Parts: sequence; C-alpha cells; structure tokens
Amino acid sequence: MEAVYEWPEPVVRVQTLAGAATIPDRYVKPLSERPKLAAVPVGSTARASNNIPVIDFASLASGRETAAVAAACGEWGFFQLVNHGIETAEEVRQAWREFFALPMEEKQRYANSPATFEGYGSRLGVVKGAVLDWGDYFFLHLLPPSPPTKWPSSPSQLRGKTEEYCAAVAKVVEAVKRAISAALGVEEGYMAAAFGQAAAAMRVNYYPKCPQPELTLGLSPHSDPGGLTFLLPDEHVKGLQVRHAGEWVTVDPVPGGLIVNIGDQIQLLSNGTFKSVEHRVTANAAADRISVAYFHNPQDDLLISPASEIVKRSGPAVYKPIMYREYKKHMRMLGLGGKSHVDSLRTT
Ligand code: OGA
Ligand code: NI
Repeated sequence: MEAVYEWPEPVVRVQTLAGAATIPDRYVKPLSERPKLAAVPVGSTARASNNIPVIDFASLASGRETAAVAAACGEWGFFQLVNHGIETAEEVRQAWREFFALPMEEKQRYANSPATFEGYGSRLGVVKGAVLDWGDYFFLHLLPPSPPTKWPSSPSQLRGKTEEYCAAVAKVVEAVKRAISAALGVEEGYMAAAFGQAAAAMRVNYYPKCPQPELTLGLSPHSDPGGLTFLLPDEHVKGLQVRHAGEWVTVDPVPGGLIVNIGDQIQLLSNGTFKSVEHRVTANAAADRISVAYFHNPQDDLLISPASEIVKRSGPAVYKPIMYREYKKHMRMLGLGGKSHVDSLRTT
C-alpha cells in the first residue's frame, strides 16, 4: 500500500456545517449504519444498568484487580479507570475547547495531510467520495514527538498542560500494562517487552452540534489499531457507544474517570483472548462534544505476534505476525472499517 500525501478532495470543516438546517449528503450514512438515538436529555445523571466495568486504579496498581481486568478485557474490551490521580484533565479539556473555538483561519494554519496526519483534520482515509463522519480532530505524536511547530500556539497554556497530562497518563499506562499481563497469565513485564520502545500519540476529537444526528455518526465503527487507548470523555455530553453482545451500548462516563480500551495489537498479542472491541460515536443536536484520546502503541518496527505462552496453552496462533508500521497504513489509507483490518490477519 503506497502512502498518499494529499487529500483526494477539498477538506470541509464539520464545524462550518453545524449551523445549517440539514447535513450535506456526504455525511448521510446508509440506513443500516444509522444510529438509533434514545431521547436522553443532555446532562442526564441517571446511570445505565448495562455498562462497561469500572476499575479502581489504586487497587489495580497493587495487583488486586487481575480477575476484574481479565473479565473487562475479555468481555467488553473496555473499562473505566477511576481514582487514577491525574489532576490536569479538566484544564486540558478546557484548553482544547478554546482551540476549537478559535477563528477558522487560525486553526487552518495547522491543517493536516494524509502524509503524517499531524494537525487539524476532518477525515481519516483517502478514498475519494467516501461517506464522512461528523467530526473534526487534532492529531499529534507524543513519543517520538511531533515538531513543536505542529502544536497550536494558542491558547498559550495548551501545549504545557497537554504534555503534563500526557506524562501523567503515561505512568498510568505502565501500571495498566502490568495488570493486563497478569490478567493474561503471562509474566508481568510481558506486554512492556512485546511493545519495545513504545510510541504514543493523541487525538483530540471535536464533534460539533449536528442538525440531523439520526442520519450520521460522529465517528464510524472501528477498533483502535494500536495497543491501548485512554480516553478523556466529555464531562457533559455522552456519545461513545461500544458494541456488546450485538448491541450498541452508550457509555455512561463516571465523573473524573478515564475510559481505557484494548487496541488491535493486544488482540493480536493475546491471540484473541482480549478483544479490541468496535466502538463509534453518535452525533448530537443539542450540544457539541470534545474528547481527548491518548494512544499507547508498540514500537513501529517490532513484529507483533500471538504470545508463545498463550499459543502453547490454548493455541494455535490465529493471527499472522505484523509490524505496527505496516498495520497502521491499512487504516490510514482505507479509513475506519469496523474490524476489517484485524480480521485481514486471521490465519483461518
Ligand atoms: C477514538 C475514539 C471516541 C470518542 O478517538 O479512537 O474512539 O468518544 N474516540 O471520541
Ligand atoms: Ni477509537
């Protein structure tokens, strides 16, 4: 698959479409992909009964949540982490809200291209004429880092606050990797070794208000291609849905929690024991929504293959080995495609 350096057609910022009475045809999903939107008032505090598990970080870090982590990663591919001690989350969300509220010409200075995706973007994939999602985003590498010029210079505290937040998330990530190794029944440092010199990136998602949310999606169904994702959800507006037992379950964020999910590389490493579960985002007519995703990924040029200990125990290997560098090209070129990327590596 060859890299592409330009978008196949002019990029439209979804934010500029938010004030119209209807959405352009480019955003209208086929009938079977449209969401069924329940009438949940914005800011509703009623907690849903069917929801992703909640895990306490202090308890996880001291090795007391092995069974809960195994159940969450095997059944849901998702959990919410509370009591993680990261204090800068609110400021980070606020700084990025301010960024997306800047005049368009200021944001356009950071317009991205499919060469590296860094910067201000409004689509994934370079398939001409593709149906698009109702969202804009800002993508940056953290490790190895994007050049400072790729970061917004305004608001002035954005970069410092974001880097501080990401350093705190990185510490939490290491404890979660140990807990996942334990939950898989492999030695504690297994995940860390398999990922090598791990990489990190972030994507701030901005979902503008949508006049016809029943026709479109903020983000199409996908599983995350990398290792682990730590999502800081919007504090007021729901929208993330996780596929569970054939249904789309709307995540009910716990105040102050971080949503953790398994990416495709852990599904591969665990030989399918842990699932990178499909998720999507619905659009909303009443309010815009912001989320900050931190992606922890394996070293680009290490082969990721099912752990030999797991294959020995419950073999055979159901996935072919692949380097993350090759893997991520699928998604970057073809766009979000449910579970098609990970399924393309199946041996049977
Ligand atoms: C993502 C993602 C969910 C959300 O960025 O990969 O799934 O709630 N985001 O914005
Ligand atoms: Ni995702």
